[in-house]
Order: sequence, then C-alpha cells, then structure tokens
Amino acid sequence: MRIDIITVFPEMFRGFLGESILSRAVRAGKVLFRVVDLRDFARDLRRTVDDRPYSGGPGMLMKPEVWFDAVESLRTPEARVVLTTPAGEPYVQRKAEEFAACEHLMFLCGHYEGIDARVREIVTDEVSIGDFVMTGGEIAAAAMVDSVVRLLPGVLGGGAAATANESFGRDGLLEAPQYTRPPVFRGMSVPEVLLGGDHAKVENWRRGESIDLTSRRRPELVK
Ligand code: ADE
Repeated sequence: MRIDIITVFPEMFRGFLGESILSRAVRAGKVLFRVVDLRDFARDLRRTVDDRPYSGGPGMLMKPEVWFDAVESLRTPEARVVLTTPAGEPYVQRKAEEFAACEHLMFLCGHYEGIDARVREIVTDEVSIGDFVMTGGEIAAAAMVDSVVRLLPGVLGGGAAATANESFGRDGLLEAPQYTRPPVFRGMSVPEVLLGGDHAKVENWRRGESIDLTSRRRPELVK
C-alpha cells in the first residue's frame, strides 16, 4: 500500500512514522509513505498557502490551487483522497478496514481556520476522528494511518487473530479486560475462570464481560 500525507508540517510525521510497528511495516515492504510539504506547491517565493476569506471573518483559509496541484501531481486512478476535517463523517473501525483494502491512500491535512470549499471537489472522503476540534488535521491523519497499517496482512504478529477479538472487531463490542501474571497483585486477583484453562468457559466469560462493559460505556453499540 502507498500512503501519501500532504501537510504544512511534514516534520510532525518524522518521529511517528519512524517508530515501532509503522517503521517495521515500511521495512517489511507492506507500506510506502510519502510525506509531502504543501508549501512545495505554492506559486510565490514566500511559499504562501493561505489567504483571507471572502466576506471577512477571523483567520485565514487554505488556498485551493496549492491543494489541487499537490493532489493532481500525486494521485493515481485508484487513490482514495481523504480530507481530515471536524465536519467529516465519523471515523470508525469499519472505515479503517475499508481503507486497509485500498492500494493508495492520500491524506490531506487541513489547517488554520479551514480550507477553500472547492478543495472538496478533488477528495473522495471527508473524515473526522471525533467531535472535537484540533488546530490541524495531522494528528487525525496519524491516527487513521496507524489504525489502517496495523490491519495490513503480516504487519502484526499473530496474523488475523491479532485483530479478531479487539474492541470494535467483528461483533462491534468493546474488548473484555485482559490479565497477565502475577495472579494476585496488591490484593487484586485475576478472575478465576481465566486461570482454569477451560476454553469454552473463558470464551463465555469474555463475551459476558464484553457485553457488560459495552452496555455501561457505549450502550449505543449494543443491539
Ligand atoms: N481537524 C481538526 N479537528 C479534526 C477532527 N476532529 N477530525 C479530523 N480532522 C480534524
């Protein structure tokens, strides 16, 4: 998979993409990242990417032509062009799965007060990572990239099992609590059923805990 990230802050991605599972995925040839500085597509010596909004109002807007030039120079026919915006559709695990099946993803990180609305003409998806507003789309893009790359075959150890039982997995519920050794820590015991090794009982317990936790925290996820 190829992932392009277009941003005015390319440095923000250096550490993030260079660490841990993401860098391993790159070295294993599962994913190829290109972080592109939007200012490289500016048309003036000062590398301007923003301008004042028509009809006034506070702040600056990102200019359409730099985004069009950037996207048109990088896109392939099969590319999904994803604009990060708090006004986008909510990003959920199903969307991560959909993106993970793509050959080429492009993330457009919005900034300042917003983007000229005509940029929406060249995007295929507008996505928000939650009902809160950040100063820019970089962290949203990073969150999506992480959640997509970990789904690519061979990236996580343990194969498909590694992502099968986690929260928002196939049953759409939150994951049951997990424990490791020691069996008692500061007076807190690991639930008896997990020490027994009866697989069916453990599955049953997990399912119950899962439904319980989801009903309390995210009742809208329990059908
Ligand atoms: N840019 C600023 N806030 C955002 C959010 N919540 N999701 C996606 N992009 C954003």
